[in-house]
Amino acid sequence: MAQLVKKPKTNLGPGFWPVTIFLAVLAIVSDYYVYVTPLSRFLPEAAVPADQIDALFKFLTIVGNAIFIYVVGYVVYFCIAFRRPKNAPANTIGVQIHDQPQLEFWWTLVPTLLVVALAIFSVVIWKGLQQTQGDVLTMEAIGHQFYFEFRYPKLKASVRDEMHIPVNTPITLHVTAADVLHGFWVPEVRVKADMVPGLVNTLRFTPTTIGQYRIICTEYCGSSHGKMIAKLYIDSQQDFGKWFAKEANIAASGGGGAAVALTTGQKDKGQALFGQKCSTCHSVGPYNQIIVGPGLGHLFNDAEHKQLVDGKDVTPENIAYILHNGYQGQLNGHVAVMPSAQANAISNEDIANLTAYLVSLSK
Ligand code: CUA
Repeated sequence: MAQLVKKPKTNLGPGFWPVTIFLAVLAIVSDYYVYVTPLSRFLPEAAVPADQIDALFKFLTIVGNAIFIYVVGYVVYFCIAFRRPKNAPANTIGVQIHDQPQLEFWWTLVPTLLVVALAIFSVVIWKGLQQTQGDVLTMEAIGHQFYFEFRYPKLKASVRDEMHIPVNTPITLHVTAADVLHGFWVPEVRVKADMVPGLVNTLRFTPTTIGQYRIICTEYCGSSHGKMIAKLYIDSQQDFGKWFAKEANIAASGGGGAAVALTTGQKDKGQALFGQKCSTCHSVGPYNQIIVGPGLGHLFNDAEHKQLVDGKDVTPENIAYILHNGYQGQLNGHVAVMPSAQANAISNEDIANLTAYLVSLSK
């Protein structure tokens, strides 16, 4: 009986302090390499807050790495130090350690200090991101299923899937969405915001490196979410000026660019566009394969539906007419609405391509 009531030992095993020192060396050496490795080697920085975001990320990595090394190191050490002796029975209970005030003090204090430091670091960067600096270009980005629309204050028409900004000019970008949740993210700029219908979120950054980058939608927004990638052009001041003048000209001549002859339509481009713009409501099957609107795969060889929904004959010109103006009216006893080319943000060229594709389906 005597040995059963013996007070359990409360030591941490024979190698605790040597192991602690070894883990400290390991953490310091690996953290040093994290510290001296520029993150831009893996992902280039193209705008001003990127270096601050990277510094924050590095801080997190350094702290996380040290915690990882200590947690894993101690798990391995304790497994070895307190393993079951060879001659002990299989159901032996190990040494039970209670009340280590010193350890408890440190494992409370150290994480608390780290989290507070992280909070201060984050808030300082976040405050900087909220401040407008000097002469800024203010613009809007709107997420749609499945494209990005960009609006510039001095441009009458919006621009689709292409965002141009001049280098070294502070940008204030208001982002929102027209239909469902989308996201705005440019990895090289590091900033990211949700695009929420009815809510305007603001991003501020100053582009520093001329180049072409990807704007990625980061919220699952529907079947073509994966295709929702736009281009960000960080232009020189001259190139931006040229681009802006060109867009202003197009806007002045009526929005979607000069009229394009239907015969120039390319069905491959039309097919890709159909996936982005039409497939949410239309299948490419027969008329009866209805999603929201009828199937459009047999427009030219459907004996039961010899006319388009607006009562006109099935011709490429009349198809283009509906694509351009949209449709609102009766369809199988309920009111059907198809958005116009303007609401759908499709250009005349897009209409030519879509028409070519729809024509090709029934041939
Ligand atoms: Cu838009 Cu995902």
